[in-house]
Amino acid sequence: MSAPRTLIAANWKLHKNPRESLTFFEEWDGLAKTMKLDPRRHGVLFFPPATSLETAGHWRQKDPRFEFGAQNCCSEASGAFTGEISAAVVKELGAHFVLIGHSERRSLFHEKDDLLARKVALVQTLGLTPMLCIGETLAEREKGETNAVLSRQLKQGLSQVVTMASLAIAYEPVWAIGTGKVASLEQVAEAHAFIRSELQHLGQSDISILYGGSVKADNAVGLADIANVNGFLVGGASLDPKSFAQIVRAALNLSSAHK
Ligand code: PGA
Repeated sequence: MSAPRTLIAANWKLHKNPRESLTFFEEWDGLAKTMKLDPRRHGVLFFPPATSLETAGHWRQKDPRFEFGAQNCCSEASGAFTGEISAAVVKELGAHFVLIGHSERRSLFHEKDDLLARKVALVQTLGLTPMLCIGETLAEREKGETNAVLSRQLKQGLSQVVTMASLAIAYEPVWAIGTGKVASLEQVAEAHAFIRSELQHLGQSDISILYGGSVKADNAVGLADIANVNGFLVGGASLDPKSFAQIVRAALNLSSAHK
């Protein structure tokens, strides 16, 4: 069994037009020059808005050490789905990943586990890697339902999985996203250990499990040191190249070697 890859991912949500994305990448280029990245062990990923995917694709041709992906895609390959994002086109643009089931997709766009399961299957069929996001709300945590929610979202989201060999999981407690409230080290350790054991029951133990929810340069070191935390999914703090670079460095310094 190989160790999970350490993945540090920037989720730009609905920020940055193509010109702003390019400006970010130009500045990023300088900051990333000194990063020691071994692509077998580490990945730095960008999830720009769909309208900036082409820009990310062009930039990646210049620096293939970095990967990118879409924040969402349609569950169907093609057809009459006005306004949707084609996973096949995402792949053509040079992407490797698609985020699936981010809590904003679940809560604001009412995406349910069965729809997410179809997206996982389609994305894998096309040779892309799904990053399935799971996480409990505050109300669910307070009722003691965290593990039940995580288990359900994992099992149902993966109910049509094509291969467990091409998959990443992001644990994002909903109450910690964009709120500045980070889960405590104990809460993160517990949730990641639980997700790891669930994945082992499903037959795979080297899947990267990322933590997301108000990750910043100053809390990344403590979080990166937790067992079974194999990187981060970063929203707000990934919009600025310098702060994202600090988070990447923190995660790389404590990368999967000892986990
Ligand atoms: P945040 O967002 O880092 O701004 O909390 C994380 C996410 O939504 O993926």
